Amino acid sequence: MRRAEIVDAGADRTEDAAHLIPPWPACDSLDASTLDTIGAGDGVYIWDSEGNRLIDGPAGMWCTNVGHRNRDLARAMQDQALALSYNSPWYSANEPALDLARMIAERAPGDLAHVFFTTGGSTAIETALRFIFYANNALGRPEKKIVVSREGAYHGSTHLSASLNGSSKSGELMDYHEEQIEWLSCPDPRSRAPEESETDLADRLIAEFEALIARHGAERIAAFVGEPVMASGGVIVPPEGYFRRMAETCRRHGILFVADEVVTGFGRLGAMFASEEVFGAVPDIVTFAKGVTSGYFPLGGVAISARLVEELRGSDNPGALFTHGLTYSGHPVGCAVAIRNIELLEGGILDHARAMIPYFQGRLRELARLPGVADVRGMGMMACVEMAPCPPGPEGVTIGAAVDRHCQALGLLLRPMGNMCVMSPPLIITRAQIDAMVAALETGIQRAVADQAGT
Ligand SMILES: Cc1ncc(COP(=O)(O)O)c(C=O)c1O
Repeated sequence: MRRAEIVDAGADRTEDAAHLIPPWPACDSLDASTLDTIGAGDGVYIWDSEGNRLIDGPAGMWCTNVGHRNRDLARAMQDQALALSYNSPWYSANEPALDLARMIAERAPGDLAHVFFTTGGSTAIETALRFIFYANNALGRPEKKIVVSREGAYHGSTHLSASLNGSSKSGELMDYHEEQIEWLSCPDPRSRAPEESETDLADRLIAEFEALIARHGAERIAAFVGEPVMASGGVIVPPEGYFRRMAETCRRHGILFVADEVVTGFGRLGAMFASEEVFGAVPDIVTFAKGVTSGYFPLGGVAISARLVEELRGSDNPGALFTHGLTYSGHPVGCAVAIRNIELLEGGILDHARAMIPYFQGRLRELARLPGVADVRGMGMMACVEMAPCPPGPEGVTIGAAVDRHCQALGLLLRPMGNMCVMSPPLIITRAQIDAMVAALETGIQRAVADQAGT
């Protein structure tokens, strides 16, 4: 099936692209975006500007959990826009925001009973950090401000959230807020020494955290922020027990444990929230976005522990203002979509995803035998095929981009990152569609490796 009637097939959009600044542009691409244009989507598929159908391997960007063109979500958006298109969260609440806050509190781990809605993941992390700084000031401990992140983390593109990303940012031409941030090692099982088991690695990573706490003093460390599975860092699944033990270490030292579930929430790991259900870690704060609306509306949020809120209520500063608010916080259309999205996930999509996950992970692992493949890893509906490092090809094309190019010609879109190809398909994907993904990947990898060898 082709959907060329929706896509403006083959149209030259070069002039228009000069006006659209893409994410992460270089100086010389600010006015010359070379991004492909996507015209339509349906289920697990999207259609490119030539009218070719592709499996949406990354689900946009860890977003489209219930798939494209879901009529229930479209109807929920339309109905809500016709009922109430917008209200100011400063002066009024709306019914979808109230309902969604309760639904999230009911599903969130631990005692996370209070929800602040944001416009996406970066603003969720930004809100969490601002709230933590505010809380420590209000509770009379202004020196408790260090935030602990990890090498390879990705938490967003606002000033504070971006400051948590990666590790050292020397050499980058951006300004960051780094004075209060410390990085721990990436919990990558491949970083094990030859004689180290996964448990040994987890022990070493926890000891590193303990040493950092001893160095600064727990009274100066406000929070640890971590993704249960590092997503944009290359789908890094931590060693067994690590995430839970990080939470326990935080609890022991009075440090807040913030689980960034922007990617892992709302079904991607087969659970509404992965921290407790999948990893046994009970956070003090959870951030979410993306899958909460399956990407149909830009919405995110922060769920905060009732214990922390009670502590603030009982502080010496009960009137201290959290001067933080967003025009679109609790947007009625976004919240209505999120409610319907949760109903769809719980009405069968989550069960379907749980049934498909072992097949998805198992079939992808078969690619590990191909020459040129260094590693295949993943969890839930997140996966990464990592190619052996090699020098970029003509025009600086990386091996990941080369695999993606070949896969696109075979009907599969990937997310290439250097020598990695990342996938997180819509949770509605079927066995046959997983087979099609793996077949395209196998041929795409073989062709990219052959190009590289000049054969
Ligand atoms: C774990 C994580 N946190 C936060 C963000 C930022 O979310 P957004 O791009 O919606 O601002 C992302 C984006 O990919 C993410 O992967």
